[in-house]
Amino acid sequence: MSLPGAVVTLGQFIISRQSDYPYAKGELSRLLRDIGIAAKIVNREVNKAGLVDILGAAGDTNIQGEEQKKLDVFANEQFIAALKAGGECCAIASEENDDIIIIDNEISRNAKYVVCMDPLDGSSNIDVNVSIGTIFSIYRRVSLSGPGTVEDFLQKGTEQVAAGYIIYGSSTMLVYTTGFGVNGFTLDPSIGEFCLSHPDMQAPLDGNIYSINQGNFVHFTPAVKEYIKYCQEEDLENGRPYSLRYIGSLVADFHRNLIKGGIYIYPPTLKSPKGKLRLLYECNPLAFIAEQAGSKATNGMQRIMEIQPTDIHQRVSLYIGSTKMVEKAEQFIEATKLDLNKSI
Ligand code: AHG
Ligand code: MN
Ligand code: MN
Repeated sequence: MSLPGAVVTLGQFIISRQSDYPYAKGELSRLLRDIGIAAKIVNREVNKAGLVDILGAAGDTNIQGEEQKKLDVFANEQFIAALKAGGECCAIASEENDDIIIIDNEISRNAKYVVCMDPLDGSSNIDVNVSIGTIFSIYRRVSLSGPGTVEDFLQKGTEQVAAGYIIYGSSTMLVYTTGFGVNGFTLDPSIGEFCLSHPDMQAPLDGNIYSINQGNFVHFTPAVKEYIKYCQEEDLENGRPYSLRYIGSLVADFHRNLIKGGIYIYPPTLKSPKGKLRLLYECNPLAFIAEQAGSKATNGMQRIMEIQPTDIHQRVSLYIGSTKMVEKAEQFIEATKLDLNKSI
């Protein structure tokens, strides 16, 4: 494929993998390429966030009289524009839009794919220079032709054909899967390319990091409270107490745990009785990546990717990360005989 030591760019890698889909005609490759381009534009703005007026609230007017956009609005617009221009996607479901966005033009109307996205994940961290991300998930449409429909999005996560995230962190990375393992690319700003830096990512089976907003402890279910106590107990043989790490950007917490080993939990709380995170554009894509890297993702009882969506903005509980840690947390749920179905 390439000489030892030679840089493999995202574009080259996508093309080299196209033979994984003998039935495909390159549309998925072009879709992934379009997402990569939008990611670079968003990255540029993220890096300027402390310097320019973009930190203002959406709807504010800057000194030039131009309307200011918050980064999540900007990111949403950039990804939508890239997907519209690419012509491979007939509809988009975004965290930022109540309804699906139908791309009803000559080129896109009959396109094969729909895309779900959280254009800017961890938005509370933008103003404080902490890692944020983008999450995306791609499905083949179920409607045969014509404008995309809501039904095209209400597919189980097991039907995803690709999913990924971009983390805008100490460096910017794009990590994605098409169901043939997980590969990570780091943006080299000097050449403006995502370069393969983490080939065939495998997550540790076990770990010693737990990530949860423990400030909500009082509102957690007994099972989650018990599991947290377990994480904090001393058990030198098994590496406990575990370390607590919680950035508050799902992408960043997930990415760290994927590399180092750990569990991320967003359980039901009093404020968010169904959990806070969204099935279509937060949980399913990360669940696909987790499983492809040898990790696990459940709602405490059921595999995330087997949940039948009924709404594009549906929320679910999430237990995701190192397989042994997720299974341990599930044992606590089982043990307290908590019927999550009642609280979900
Ligand atoms: P978003 O910025 O897309 O709304 O997502 C925020 C999510 C997720 O990234 C993060 O892990 C979680 O909300 C944090 O929630 P809490 O502040 O309730 O812990
Ligand atoms: Mn989010
Ligand atoms: Mn968001």
